[in-house]
Amino acid sequence: MNPVATILQPNETNLRDMRKSLRLGQLVAIPTETVYGLAANALDEDACAKIFGAKERPSEDPLICHVPDFEALQRYCETNETAAQLAAAFWPGPLTFVLPKKPIIPDIVTAGLDSVAVRSPSHPVFRQLIEGCDFPLAAPSANPFSYISPTLALHVQANLGDRIETILDGGPCELGVESTIVDLRNPASPQILRYGALPAESIENALKCRIARPDTEHTPVAIAPGTLPKHYSPRTPLDLRTSPILEDELQISDRNTAYLLLRKPPHSLSNHIHWLSEQGELDAIAARLFAKLRELDTGGYQKIVAEEAPELGLGLAINERLRRAAFRT
Ligand code: TXA
Ligand code: MG
Repeated sequence: MNPVATILQPNETNLRDMRKSLRLGQLVAIPTETVYGLAANALDEDACAKIFGAKERPSEDPLICHVPDFEALQRYCETNETAAQLAAAFWPGPLTFVLPKKPIIPDIVTAGLDSVAVRSPSHPVFRQLIEGCDFPLAAPSANPFSYISPTLALHVQANLGDRIETILDGGPCELGVESTIVDLRNPASPQILRYGALPAESIENALKCRIARPDTEHTPVAIAPGTLPKHYSPRTPLDLRTSPILEDELQISDRNTAYLLLRKPPHSLSNHIHWLSEQGELDAIAARLFAKLRELDTGGYQKIVAEEAPELGLGLAINERLRRAAFRT
């Protein structure tokens, strides 16, 4: 049997060992407030190549660089007033900027683009780790390419445990969906490339203007490079409903089909009926979505039927994940 990655607790000794492994060009899985990431020293080309290998990720899909703060960001990309304003409002947190890259960032990180994606996560364990690193961390979500993103150390161990040595435990990810990505190359017209854990409306309120958004309602293909329609996908086929699933359908439903509802139903409480929140709270739905999809995917069901969230706030990120999970070629 292949060796299984060790899950390490975030104490000083383990953090020191992990920084050393990263400095030596090894991969380490790390917690963030959104999802777990698979990290390497972003300035080390060979180390970053290992990320693509472990995830079986195509080389045209660029990586996000993680930094401790806005001051560090300025070492790796050209910045502007809009970035400074958004960082002051939302960093550390689930917001990624795309900005013109400086030559110090290797091409492998950006898939040859002349821009780089950068964010500063708020997870306390992540911050403890990075504050002792003198390099940024390139880290995609720590899932095999196109599978469901991990929100627990155990998820990483289950999928990548035979390909990496260590996973830093930071508990369950609080937010549960990836960061929002905003293209700030033209500071006068910011553009959302991927809906994520920071609602688009929050960015608009901070900038006091409307910003361009991807049309994920009509096409599952986001405009961020490297993104494919099928992603975040369980192996079990997933049907997505645009209108709420009614009690009548649940009453007569087939037990080989898992129902994934946004909120707890009033009556139908049998084992194949699952829900993501008590009352439809979007933050609870986002936080549980990926873990629940994994649970249903390994639950022996023939099919999963899920409901779309309202098309606003965090609902936009939740629906983008659900639509791509449901996409079939
Ligand atoms: O919350 C998150 O963002 C997580 C955690 C680990 O930080 N990371 C994450 O990384 O979601 P990943 O690799 O799963 O998604 C990164 C996406 C790429 O697929 C690409 O679409 C976009 O970020 N991206 C990266 N660099 C870019 C660039 N230079 N221009 C446009 N989009 C870029
Ligand atoms: Mg990902």
